[in-house]
Amino acid sequence: MDPRGIKTICMIPVVECILLIAAGICVADEPVLTTRLCKEFALPNGYPCQEFNVTTSDGYILMIQRIQHGREGPQNGSSRPPVVLGAGVFQQAALWLLNPPEQSLGFILADVGFDVWFLNFRGTAESSKHVSLTIEDKEFWIWSFDELASFDVPAVLQFVYQTTGSQAYYVGHSQGTTIGLAALADPNVRQMVKAAVLLSPIAYLSHTTSQLALAFSEMYLDKEINCSVALDSFTGKKLARSCTLKDILKQVHAQCPNSEINSSRIGFYSTFMPQPTSANNVAHLSQLIRKEGFGKYDMGKEGNMKKYGQDTPPEYDISSIPKKFPILITYGGSDHLSDLVDVQNLIYNLRCSVKTFYIPNYGHADYVLGTSAATKAYPQIIGFLRSI
Ligand SMILES: *[C@@H]1O[C@H](CO)[C@@H](O)[C@H](O)[C@H]1NC(C)=O
Ligand SMILES: *[C@@H]1O[C@H](CO)[C@@H](O)[C@H](O)[C@H]1NC(C)=O
Ligand SMILES: *[C@@H]1O[C@H](CO)[C@@H](O)[C@H](O)[C@H]1NC(C)=O
Ligand SMILES: *[C@@H]1O[C@H](CO)[C@@H](O)[C@H](O)[C@H]1NC(C)=O
Repeated sequence: MDPRGIKTICMIPVVECILLIAAGICVADEPVLTTRLCKEFALPNGYPCQEFNVTTSDGYILMIQRIQHGREGPQNGSSRPPVVLGAGVFQQAALWLLNPPEQSLGFILADVGFDVWFLNFRGTAESSKHVSLTIEDKEFWIWSFDELASFDVPAVLQFVYQTTGSQAYYVGHSQGTTIGLAALADPNVRQMVKAAVLLSPIAYLSHTTSQLALAFSEMYLDKEINCSVALDSFTGKKLARSCTLKDILKQVHAQCPNSEINSSRIGFYSTFMPQPTSANNVAHLSQLIRKEGFGKYDMGKEGNMKKYGQDTPPEYDISSIPKKFPILITYGGSDHLSDLVDVQNLIYNLRCSVKTFYIPNYGHADYVLGTSAATKAYPQIIGFLRSI
C-alpha cells in the first residue's frame, strides 16, 4: 500500500477527534492506571484514582497517586483541601489503604471531604525510576532521608500546589514524620503546607528500645536487615547499596506486642512491604539512635567538610518552625520505636503550635494499621485538620 495512503487514513480520525473534542463530543481516552494502589484498592472500592510521575530536581521520577474524592462523588460546592500522605521507611503509599475503606485513613479522608495524595518516596517499587540512572547503579542509592526531605517532599508539594492551587496538609507516619519535620524546617517548603499531622513521630531516637532500631545501629553485621552489596569499581571495597527487612511478619509482631493490628491480615500486608531503602538511609537512622539530636547525615569529617562546610553535620532547626504553624502529634504508650522520652523531647524542641493525642496501648503501626484507629484516632485527626 502507498505509505502516503496509510498516513491519510491514520490522520483522519485524529483530526476528527480533535474537532469533536472541540465540540465537546469526543472524550480523550482515560489514561491506563498501572499501580497496585489504584488498581487493587481505590478502583475496586469505588474511589476515583489518578497517577502522576513527578520528577525531582535531582532526577528521581516519583509515582504519586491521588484519590480526589470519596465514594459519594465530588459533592460540588465545597472545596476539597489537599492532604499529602507520607509513609515510613520500608513502606509504600498503599500502606494508607491496606485495611477496608471504613478502617483506612486514606479512604476515610477522601470520604470526609479531602483531596488525598499519596507519596511514594524514591527507591520504593513505584518510584524506582530516574532520568539517567537505574536501580542497578550504585549512584541511584546515594541518599538518606535528608534528600527525601529536600527533594522528594518539595517536588510533590509543588506539584500538588500547581494542580490544586492550594496549600496542602502533610500527614506522615514514622519516617514520614522525620522527613516532614526536616522539610518543614525549610521556609520555602512551609509556604506550601497549611498544617502537619505526625503519627508515631521519629526525630530523636536515642531512647528507642525497639529491637529493629537497635539492629539498625549494628547494620552490616545485622541479621534483621538484608542489604544488596555492590563492589566499588575503584577501590574494590564492598558497598551496601539498598537494604530491606528480612522478616516483615516478625518485625510487625515484635514492634507492636500490644497492638490492635489484625494479625490475620499480616500475610496480606507483607505483599506490599518491606520496600527497599538506601543503605545510607539505614546508616543515617542508626546515627539518630547512637547520638542525641536530630542531625543531617554524618559523612565523616572529610565528607562533612565537603558537603556542609563544617566537621560535624548540622542539626535540623525544627525550633524555627514558627509559632503559628499548627502540628498535631499522635503517639502511643506501647511504641518501642517512638519512645515516650523521645516524643516528649520532640514536643519540647518544637516552638510552634503543637497539639498532642495519646493512646496508651498503641504500638508503632497502630495509627495506620490498627483496626480501632478509625474510631479511636481518626476523628481527632479529622477534627484537627478541619479546625485549621
Ligand atoms: C509514568 O512513567 C512511566 C514510565 O517511566 C510510564 O509507563 C507511565 O505511563 C507514566 N505514568 C503517567 C501517569 O504519566
Ligand atoms: C451541584 O451542582 C449542580 C450543577 O452546578 C447543581 O444543580 C446542584 O444543585 C449542586 N448540588 C449540590 C449538592 O450542591
Ligand atoms: C536478600 O536480598 C536479595 C536481593 O536483594 C534476595 O535475593 C535475597 O533473597 C534476600 N535474602 C533474604 C534472606 O531475604
Ligand atoms: C481481621 O482480618 C480478617 C481477614 O481479613 C477479617 O475477616 C476480620 O474481619 C478482621 N477483623 C477485624 C476486627 O477487622
